[in-house]
Order: sequence, then structure tokens, then C-alpha cells
Amino acid sequence: MGARRRLALLALAVALAAAAATTGHAGVTSPYRRKLEATADMPFDADVFRVPPGYNAPQQVHITLGDQTGTAMTVSWVTASELGNGTVRYGPSPDKMEMSAQGTHTRYDYFNYTSGFIHHCTLRNLKHGVKYYYAMGFGHTVRTFSFTAPPKPGPDVPFKFGLIGDLGQTFDSNSTLSHYEANGGDAVLFVGDLSYADAYPLHDNRRWDSWARFVERSVAYQPWIWTAGNHELDYAPEIGETVPFKPFTRRYRTPYRAAGSTEPLWYSVKVASAHIIVLSSYSSYGKYTPQWTWLSDELARVDRKATPWLIVLMHSPWYNSNNYHYMEGETMRVQFESWLVAAKVDIVLAGHVHSYERSRRFSNVAYNIVNGKATPVRDLDAPVYVTIGDGGNIEGIANNFTEPQPSYSAFREASFGHATLEIKNRTHAYYAWHRNHDGAKATADSVWLTNRHHLPTDDSK
Ligand SMILES: [Fe+2]
Repeated sequence: MGARRRLALLALAVALAAAAATTGHAGVTSPYRRKLEATADMPFDADVFRVPPGYNAPQQVHITLGDQTGTAMTVSWVTASELGNGTVRYGPSPDKMEMSAQGTHTRYDYFNYTSGFIHHCTLRNLKHGVKYYYAMGFGHTVRTFSFTAPPKPGPDVPFKFGLIGDLGQTFDSNSTLSHYEANGGDAVLFVGDLSYADAYPLHDNRRWDSWARFVERSVAYQPWIWTAGNHELDYAPEIGETVPFKPFTRRYRTPYRAAGSTEPLWYSVKVASAHIIVLSSYSSYGKYTPQWTWLSDELARVDRKATPWLIVLMHSPWYNSNNYHYMEGETMRVQFESWLVAAKVDIVLAGHVHSYERSRRFSNVAYNIVNGKATPVRDLDAPVYVTIGDGGNIEGIANNFTEPQPSYSAFREASFGHATLEIKNRTHAYYAWHRNHDGAKATADSVWLTNRHHLPTDDSK
């Protein structure tokens, strides 16, 4: 560590101590400032976007749960030259892939772009916790990958989630993914905004392809749980593209039917000791709508004895004290917050705002249009809200926080990074945020969470 770096760290420590001393229980607005370098997308010829060698080689390989608990896994990939073979073979060793499944395929047009052949194939009859090898591309170029099926859901099953949002495909995005890989999670909860292809004229869909090649190094080997963000809408009536979520839903599958949902954009999975509910900020959620009805039914299905940790994913945050996207999540908060507090949700993860923020347990459900109780209040039944839209995309950092920091905000910082959530047992989980400017193992913000159902103590201290 150089003298300048030591000095900077010392100044940071002094500033944090001073902030704590002068403000008591006030939250922290971290004085850390990331270097202000350009946030540019990696060029198409970057090595992370390399097309795998071999004729018609499967590319953009990614997996996600194929049922609610991971005894099925859906494998997706793209072939560029011709349709090729839709079969996936799989088994517990690379020499023994004796099971097989037949996939389906789709293509789509987007203005002047035509996709490759997009394959989806669900591998079934998997055993929890068993490592499987899988291969596809038979007849042309075969590629082999592996994953471990998630452990059987139960009350005390340790599991480590990576939490990533708004990733994009810049050099910072690459740093975020590398940091996550070094931290070694078992699955990713992705809170929306994948490729940012829509940042380009005509929503250059080649950027959907390059993004999928970029993240293959992780998502071909462990399931990522997808949430739809605004950059998945690709709604562009000015060029005749009026089907919302077209590229996203053609390319990415979710196990929504297994969750009793009628749309791929809202659903649930049960992984280890967690029941994870995925919501769509950009679909109807008003009273009587399909998402409203599904969520009402889904919360009644949650069994905290079987899966103690209740986690909700969405894209647009409800508690965000950054001036970017300020209050955009407000209508959904008004609609659903009372349900989540009543259900004692442990943690709500969102993205959208390109910085990092963690809340204390606060709620704002007492208000009606005559009682004047409009201010969020401490509430140990309320979730912790984490905004983790700091994956590093082309739009850059959101470095404009509101002042003063509201009392619900525990920690906020305008840096790129990712977080991890390590569930230890039914009562304790360790949450940590990692900024990209630190070494991969360093934590910039961390907290031990206690479970709202099994040990609802004040875990904000
Ligand atoms: Fe967003």
C-alpha cells in the first residue's frame, strides 16, 4: 500500500468517525469518491465478447431455475449460423452425461436486426446439491459446462447469493463481474437492466448478444435469477417496436408457471432457506391486476418454517435518497408496502439507481389521505431495502444524493460494486457490499441480518 493510499484510508476513517460522532444514529453518506474515469462500453472486439471457436458453436450459454427449487434447470444458448441440434446431454460426470433433454428454439426481429437461433432446454430430474455436467452443440461444435443443483430447501441450509444490478457491458461491468466471481457466490439475484442495448441507435440488439457472451463465464455455471428492468422494455414505437420486453423474454426464461404466475416477469423460487419473490416494476400492479392478484396469493403461500428468509426483488427502489430516479418506485410502494411489512419480508433488493444504498428497517404504511402521517418510521417488521444498481453500466454513476440524508438511510455511496448475502441458518445472514475500487474480498458496508420471523431483533446496530 502506497503512502498516498494509506493517507486516503486514514482520511476516510477519520471522516467516518467524525460523521458517527456528530450525528449519533444518523446514516452514513460515505465520503469515498471513485475515480472519475469514463464509463465506456467495451468494444465488440474485446476478449470478453469473443465468439467461441468452431462452426455454429453454442454461444451466450446461461442457466436459470427450471422449476421452483432447482430440480430442473433451464439452459439457454444461441447458434448463429444455423439452427443446429437442440439436445442437451447431462449427467454427474463429463464422461457420463447419460440423461438428455430436447429444447425448443425461437428467433425474433427487432427493426433491422434478426436474432440468431435462441435455444431453451429444461433439464429435469436433477438431485439437489449434485454437480452436473451438460453439453450441447452436437453435430457441429460441442461445448461442455457444469453447475451444482441448489440444495433442497429447508430451514437451516447455508447459501451465498450474489446481488448484482444494472450491469451493462462497460469496463466497470467487467470489474463488477470479476469481483463477484472472486467472492464466489452460489447463484445471482439480478435486479434488472442487463445489456443496455437500448442505449444505442435502433436499440442495437447485437449488444444483447455481446452482453450474453460477456456474462457466460458466470451464468453458464450457476443460475442467475432474473428481474426485468426498464432497459428490458425495448419499447420503441418510433421504429415500430411496440411489443414490450421482446428481446428480454425471447432470450431469458423464468420458471413463472411453476410459481403459479401467468407472466414471466413476476414469479418466485425457493432456494436453500430463502423464498424469493420477483416483481415487475414495469407491469401493472394496481388492484385486481394479474401481478397484484398473484402477489396476494403468493404471500399466503410463504412458509417461514420451511424457507425462513423472505426476499423480494424489483427494479425500481421504494426507498432511495438519490436524486436520480427519486420517487419513481413510489406508486408501487403505496400499493404493496403494507403487504410486505405484514409478511415480515427480510430484505428487498432493487437496482435502477446507479449507486449503492442500504436502509434501516423503516415503514411508511400508516398514512392515509387525512391523517398526515406521511413520514417513514422505525419498524422492526419492515424489510431492509438495498439499492444495488451499481453494476457499472454505460450511463455512469448516480452521484447526487438528497440532503440531508433521510433517517431511513443507513449507508449510501456513489461507487460501482456488487453485494453478497450469505444465509447461515434460520436466524442469521451476513450481508456485505463490495466496491470495485477495493480488492475483491474487502467489504465497504456490511451488516448481520436477523430473520424477521425467527429472530426479529433490532439488527441495525
Ligand atoms: Fe433501470
